[in-house]
Amino acid sequence: MRVLFSATEIAARVDALAAEIARTLPNDFVMVGVLKGAWVFVADLGRALDRAGAHPEIEFMRLASYGPAKESSGVVQLIDDVPTGLAGRPVLLVDDIVDTGRSIAYAAAQLRQHGIGDLWTCALLDKPQRREIAVALDFVGFKVGNVFVVGYGTDHAEKYRHLPYIGICGLM
Ligand code: IMP
Ligand code: MG
Repeated sequence: MRVLFSATEIAARVDALAAEIARTLPNDFVMVGVLKGAWVFVADLGRALDRAGAHPEIEFMRLASYGPAKESSGVVQLIDDVPTGLAGRPVLLVDDIVDTGRSIAYAAAQLRQHGIGDLWTCALLDKPQRREIAVALDFVGFKVGNVFVVGYGTDHAEKYRHLPYIGICGLM
């Protein structure tokens, strides 16, 4: 496994993102993390937002699209319901990685159907070369090329989510 972003590099970038988010969003926003991949990122970003003076509420949505393969199945499913109580609220949608764009586009559409207020999107990793659906990303941690990564919450067949760094697991 080759380290792409060390725990130290990620921590510094998460702090910078939190400062940018705290400056931009209204102070009553709800951060909605996409499970499972964004679990570590949301935990760290939430605490970094506190240091940056923001106090978001935190919710999660659970989506699945991958299964055991490195390629997305192309079909995104909502596993749990959209959190209740988001009507009219400003929302920051947070995912680990935006690859084809299908997952975040689907999550955003679900939230909009539930009548949320303004929406901002945030991804720790953006793979712009892989995009199939145009999505507006407001806050991005790092751009990466055509690689499959694991760690810091993200997996390959449910392995490696516990790694404190992001590593390259191979080409896509
Ligand atoms: P998309 O729907 O194609 O944009 O894929 C987004 C989701 O697939 C992300 O939220 C990740 O959970 C997962 N994913 C995409 N690329 C990778 C990767 O390189 N490693 C692990 N998971 C990935
Ligand atoms: Mg995901």
